Amino acid sequence: MSVTRIGEFRAAEGEGSTLADFLVAVRSAILGSEGAISCEVLRDRAERDRFLVIERWQSIEAHQASVRNIPPEMLKTAMALFAEAPKGGYFDDADAFVFVLPEYNHGFPASIKNAMDYLSHEWADKPLGFVSYGGVSGSTRAVQLLKPVAAALGLVVAGEVNIPFFAQYRQDAAFTPPESFTDSANLMLNRIAKVGATLKAGRKELVAA
Ligand SMILES: Cc1cc2nc3c(=O)[nH]c(=O)nc-3n(C[C@H](O)[C@H](O)[C@H](O)COP(=O)(O)O)c2cc1C
Repeated sequence: MSVTRIGEFRAAEGEGSTLADFLVAVRSAILGSEGAISCEVLRDRAERDRFLVIERWQSIEAHQASVRNIPPEMLKTAMALFAEAPKGGYFDDADAFVFVLPEYNHGFPASIKNAMDYLSHEWADKPLGFVSYGGVSGSTRAVQLLKPVAAALGLVVAGEVNIPFFAQYRQDAAFTPPESFTDSANLMLNRIAKVGATLKAGRKELVAA
């Protein structure tokens, strides 16, 4: 199991570019550290003095060990660039996924395929459910076309709910489906929970091996 660390940094006045350079240099150091999987430095488009650093680590301990390895003089330089104390937290990876999707011209939306392609091991050995909505087909064709993509990424399809002519259940902003759909959704979620628990145990064994 890996863990994601998200840090938020705000540059002191006039220090935005220097902080950007500093964080990019830190990124290289992070990527060379034991247990680091990935690191991205993002700069807010609207608030140019705001940065996010998104790091993935094999464990919290690996991240903490890397922080202890930062030379004190480097930390001192960094503190002078911040407008306020940096904020950060650890976030667990998702253990299961439900994709909610429509269908366009008998195919899946390109945005879903793009999202699936963008990640890789994050999907592996985790359960996936589909909630599809659309016209007469309830977007079942889009779901069928996505199943081989899901399999290629190691996702395990654990159920689906297909909602044809979904617009008849929508009034203003409220969506009120018949009970049969809610029942199917609950069945699917229960199955995802059960399959997910088995897969999670298996992932732990794989890491320990
Ligand atoms: C260009 C276009 C093609 C569509 N093709 C299908 C289709 O092949 N099968 C289907 O069930 N629904 C189809 N729909 C309906 C959509 O799946 C969806 O229900 C509808 O666009 C509302 O969802 P949205 O606001 O998320 O797009 C189509 C809609 C559009 C705009």
